[in-house]
Amino acid sequence: AKLLVLHGPNLNLLGSREPEVYGHDSLADIEQALQVQASQAGHVLESLQSNAEHVLVDRIQAARADGTAFILINPAAFTHTSVALRDALAAVAIPFIEIHLSNPHSREPFRQHSYLSDKALGVICGFGSDSYRYALDAALKRLHG
Ligand code: DQA
Repeated sequence: AKLLVLHGPNLNLLGSREPEVYGHDSLADIEQALQVQASQAGHVLESLQSNAEHVLVDRIQAARADGTAFILINPAAFTHTSVALRDALAAVAIPFIEIHLSNPHSREPFRQHSYLSDKALGVICGFGSDSYRYALDAALKRLHG
């Protein structure tokens, strides 16, 4: 099956961005590990990082037509602001897992609300770059029924 991984704003800076919060792995490191994990399980993984909300909305809309079976998304700051991403995910009705490197619940109060979580299959947060690996593991288990 085809899986889509989406990364929101500022995640292109991973590795150098507040490493004490987000760790030292770059986005390229994370994506390479996900590629290996997906292809070993016989699946195809596509990914996109954008700092622009509309680019992410457009990609989610396109996922309905391109046969994407599952979405993994770290919406980054859009987690806490974006009704548009919520509506796009609801519109395509593709199951998704929300991912965070940090644990937003242990941080500033404004990070404690997500516009996506109640629509997600599940949320994985607080495990640094391992959050992505655990989320893909959960998605693959679901795909294999
Ligand atoms: C984040 C948490 C968000 O609150 C923050 O805006 C991010 C990254 C995380 O992965 O921990 O940019 O989604």
